[in-house]
Amino acid sequence: MFGFWKTWKALQARGIMGINRRNADYVLKYNKRSLYPIVDDKIITKERAIAAGIHVPEMYGIISTEKEIDKLDEIIGGRSDFVIKPAQGAGGDGILVIADRFEGRYRTVSGKIISHEEIEHQISSILTGLYSLGGHRDRALIEYRVVPDQIFKSISYEGVPDIRIIVLMGYPVMAMLRLPTRQSGGKANLHQGAIGVGVDLATGLTLRGTWLNNIITKHPDTTNAVDGVQLPNWDGFMKLAAGCYELCGLGYIGVDMVLDQEKGPLILELNARPGLNIQIANDCGLTLRTHAVEARLEELKAAGVTETAEERVRFAQEMFGHIPPVEG
Ligand SMILES: Nc1ncnc2c1ncn2[C@@H]1O[C@H](COP(=O)(O)OP(=O)(O)O)[C@@H](O)[C@H]1O
Ligand SMILES: [Mg+2]
Repeated sequence: MFGFWKTWKALQARGIMGINRRNADYVLKYNKRSLYPIVDDKIITKERAIAAGIHVPEMYGIISTEKEIDKLDEIIGGRSDFVIKPAQGAGGDGILVIADRFEGRYRTVSGKIISHEEIEHQISSILTGLYSLGGHRDRALIEYRVVPDQIFKSISYEGVPDIRIIVLMGYPVMAMLRLPTRQSGGKANLHQGAIGVGVDLATGLTLRGTWLNNIITKHPDTTNAVDGVQLPNWDGFMKLAAGCYELCGLGYIGVDMVLDQEKGPLILELNARPGLNIQIANDCGLTLRTHAVEARLEELKAAGVTETAEERVRFAQEMFGHIPPVEG
């Protein structure tokens, strides 16, 4: 606990953003209330992304009522792997990642065998709002199961790692790779026990990791180093994240992406209240960076110009890279 406190104190000196500042100066200021449904409902996010030509895991079907649970078999078809999740869920709760079939039952990504009835029961819980924000009635979304790129094999335990980039007014400001562990049950959510690893915005090289608020350098399950890993397709991820501003209109978001073995970078979800732990994983506060972006916006406004997603990515890489880019 002491180590964590010391880290937090040291970060504060480097412009760490606390929850009050995040809410008042960023979430409230840049995120229009009326646009929240676009990010708070994963089905709406998906529809928007598809319309904008942004790749997402394919949607197999939606179940909105108890009666429609009968449609499950039809939606799954002959597939042996798929994902069921609450459209308005958060923090990885209520998500079922099915990796295989086993003698009339299903096998989850963490090896648990479950029956068809158990899946139906899970869907029913989703519909009643057990996992939704504010406990409202919800819909269940059935989608393609992402198979992570081989690059993550040595530093991830089951499930799918995701890449989170915080984006302010279309400018990427900080990135983190989240790695599932045995504890997190194949999900990449930090409070389920996944590891957060900082990522250098300029190069896509991983920095150090944090696990349950401790600083780590090795994955606890695979024992391989989590730092110094080159994420493939880095500029692609940066551009994808920057473009999500145009997609949803919210000015301060966390963009969660995955790298599928076959389909490449995909958007998993957008978050209007992204967590602050990303600062520990990057050993750097958000405030200095968000202020730099705000200064840039002022400058552009005075000149009467705006920047494209490519230009915004270039600005972020030049300003916020841990390792300065090589000239020429
Ligand atoms: N289609 C999918 N295929 C494989 N794993 C998934 C899929 N969707 C989600 N997951 C796993 O579950 C985690 C949480 O999913 P996400 O859609 O981000 O919901 P939440 O809002 O609950 O965080 C992801 O980080 C990933 O590890
Ligand atoms: Mg998520």
